[in-house]
Amino acid sequence: MTSSPLENLAAQKAELLGLIDSLSTLDALREAEPGITGKRSILSALQKSLGSLPPDERAPAGALLQEARREVEAALERQREDLSRLARVASLETDRMDLGDVVVAALKVPLSAGHPGLITSTQRELEDVFVGMGFTVADGPEVESDWYNFEALNIPPAHPARGLWDTFYVDLGDPETVVLRTHTSPTQIHLMEEAVATNSLPIHSVMPGRCFRRDTPDASHLATFHQIEGLVVDRGITFADLAGVIETFTRAYFGAGIESRLRPGFFPFTEPSAEFEITCTICRGEGCRTCSWTGWLELGGSGMLDPAVLAAVGIDGDEWSGFAFGFGIDRCAQMRHQIGDMRALIDNDVRFLRQFS
Ligand code: DAH
Repeated sequence: MTSSPLENLAAQKAELLGLIDSLSTLDALREAEPGITGKRSILSALQKSLGSLPPDERAPAGALLQEARREVEAALERQREDLSRLARVASLETDRMDLGDVVVAALKVPLSAGHPGLITSTQRELEDVFVGMGFTVADGPEVESDWYNFEALNIPPAHPARGLWDTFYVDLGDPETVVLRTHTSPTQIHLMEEAVATNSLPIHSVMPGRCFRRDTPDASHLATFHQIEGLVVDRGITFADLAGVIETFTRAYFGAGIESRLRPGFFPFTEPSAEFEITCTICRGEGCRTCSWTGWLELGGSGMLDPAVLAAVGIDGDEWSGFAFGFGIDRCAQMRHQIGDMRALIDNDVRFLRQFS
C-alpha cells in the first residue's frame, strides 16, 4: 500500500503557520511568501502529487489540501495587516516632533490671564451686597414649567400680563408646557415650596440667574439677560422692610448720591406692587436724555407677596408675610458703568472688557 502524500499535512501546515508567525517585517513576509503559497511551495508540490492517488481518493484529498491552503493564506493576510499597522505606527513615531523646546520658549512669553466678564463680576458684587445684608444666595432652573414661570405667580393662562413675559415655548400642546424662564421670579416658588416641604421658613434669599425673552436686542434689551430676585418671607414683614432693603442696597451698590424710590406699579404676584427706581446715574438727578428728563431710572419691580402666591405654595398668609423684588443684572451694570449699548456686554471685545479688569 502506497502512503498518502498528505500524511504529514497537519505537521506541514503547523510549520507554515509557525513560519508566518515568526515573520517580523513586511520585507521578510514578501520574501517568504513564494515559499509559503507560491508555485514552488510545499502546498503546490502536494497539489501536484495528488495525481498519483487512485482516482476515488483524489477529490477528498484535494478538499483537505484546499482547506489547509485557505488557512495558511488567511494567516498570511492577517500577518500582513498586523505588520502594516506596526509599520504605520513606527513611521508616526519617527515623524514625531519634540515640542519640548517650543513649549519652554512659549512659557517664557508672559501670558495674560483673563478675568470675569462684566455680567459675572456684577452678579458677584450684587451677591456680596445682599449677603452683607443677611441674605442667602439660591439658584433655580433656567428651563421651567408653565406653572412655575406663570401660574404659581398668579398669572393664569389667558391673563394679559403674559404678554409682558412672552417667551420661547417648547411645546404648546403639552399640559406641562415647558418654557425658558422669562424672569427669576419662578425661583421664589421653588424656594417657598422647599421651605414648606422642609418646614424651614423664614426665607431671606436672593436668586441671580439667566433669563430669556423673545425680545429683539437693542441698546437696552437682550433676548438672553440676567436678573436677581429677592425674597423675604417672615413674620410681621411690612412695606417699610421692603423700602429699607431697596434703599440700603442702592446706597451700598451705587454709592453716595444715588437714591431709590418706589413708584406704584402692577405685578400679578405682588400686592401692592412698586417699580423700583434709582437716581439717574448719568445726570445724577438733574434730568437728561437717558432718564427722559425725570432724573430717575427704572431698575426693577417689587412688592408685598400676593396672598394668591402664598396660597399656591401652601404658606399660611395669616402667619407669614413677605416681599419680593427683581431687577436686571445687565441693566445694573449698564447704569453703574454708564454703558451706552447693552450689547457691548456680550460682544466679548477685550478692549471693552479691559476697562473693568
Ligand atoms: N419678575 C419681574 C419682571 O421680570 C420683576 C419683579 C417684579 C420681580 C416684582 C419681583 C417683584 O419679585 O416683586 O419684570
